[in-house]
Amino acid sequence: MRHFLTLTDFTSEEILRLVELSAKFKSKRKMGNRVDHMLKDKSIALIFQKPSTRTRASLSVAIKELGGFPVTFNWNELQLGRGESIADTARVLSRYFDAIIARVYSHNDLLEMARYSSVPVLNALSDMFHPMQAISDLFTIKEKLGRIKGIKLAFIGDGTSNVLNSLLIAGSKVGMHIVIACPKEYSPRSNVLSLARSFAQNSGAIIEITEDPVKAVRTADIIYTDVFVSMGFEAEREKRLKVFYPKYSVTKALLEKCEKKDYIFMHCLPAHRGEEVEDEVMDDIKHSVVFDQAENRLHSSKAILTYVLGDRVWD
Ligand code: CP
Ligand code: NVA
Repeated sequence: MRHFLTLTDFTSEEILRLVELSAKFKSKRKMGNRVDHMLKDKSIALIFQKPSTRTRASLSVAIKELGGFPVTFNWNELQLGRGESIADTARVLSRYFDAIIARVYSHNDLLEMARYSSVPVLNALSDMFHPMQAISDLFTIKEKLGRIKGIKLAFIGDGTSNVLNSLLIAGSKVGMHIVIACPKEYSPRSNVLSLARSFAQNSGAIIEITEDPVKAVRTADIIYTDVFVSMGFEAEREKRLKVFYPKYSVTKALLEKCEKKDYIFMHCLPAHRGEEVEDEVMDDIKHSVVFDQAENRLHSSKAILTYVLGDRVWD
């Protein structure tokens, strides 16, 4: 049994395999082949403690198209909301479902669920990691730029973002060059950074941190951002906006400093237009790939689900 929690336990070959499978599922669906049976007779619980559009929608459609049965719960609708323990919930749901996918506030709650579940637990975002997004993003990078290794991604904004953490884990395993432009008080977490730096030793990845967004974007192939105020951090909103805005906003003026003509702009979404990114950047059809990036969550959800749960071995 395999959980899908942080990607730290996936090899670079496995990560690239998930990217390749995402591409296969995408081209199959483009050819009109929507229905598969790789998750036939499998029932999958989806538990959401926080809002979601892309993750919830893409996983539900992916499971349905793979022949499985998704059942979605809001955390508070379950007895969890009235104090039943995570351990007991995991033990019980394991008796009905073939997998549990959960979006939680605290990553420790997910670890607790995995500890007591007898079926795979998949992370649909926690305060620490968003591994499904990272797989999908590597797929988008491969699709748009033709390769992943050696590609330079400039992440602008919140150095503590869960999305960035997962990009650091996955990207460092497959040899990307990631430069993070963030304020000192929101620098990447030291535990994530040391993991990424240790993976980089094998892959040749480069990880850099600067406070200067202009320096970060100058020779980047990808400019990536996430919200300044992630879910669960609303109490820090005022403080965060003061630190991030406007210096770390991705604006047209900032992107003009990028020397690569064919750079792409990425955002995991949802975007808070006017905060971390301006409309002109989001809607720039030459560079912004944000909606293809969102679509790719569907194809990579299929890749992740079949890899972790599927019985049939791919060719
Ligand atoms: N990118 C992402 O996970 O979006 P949702 O919060 O809408 O699921
Ligand atoms: N960092 C964001 C990502 C949303 C997909 C959050 O956690 O709210």
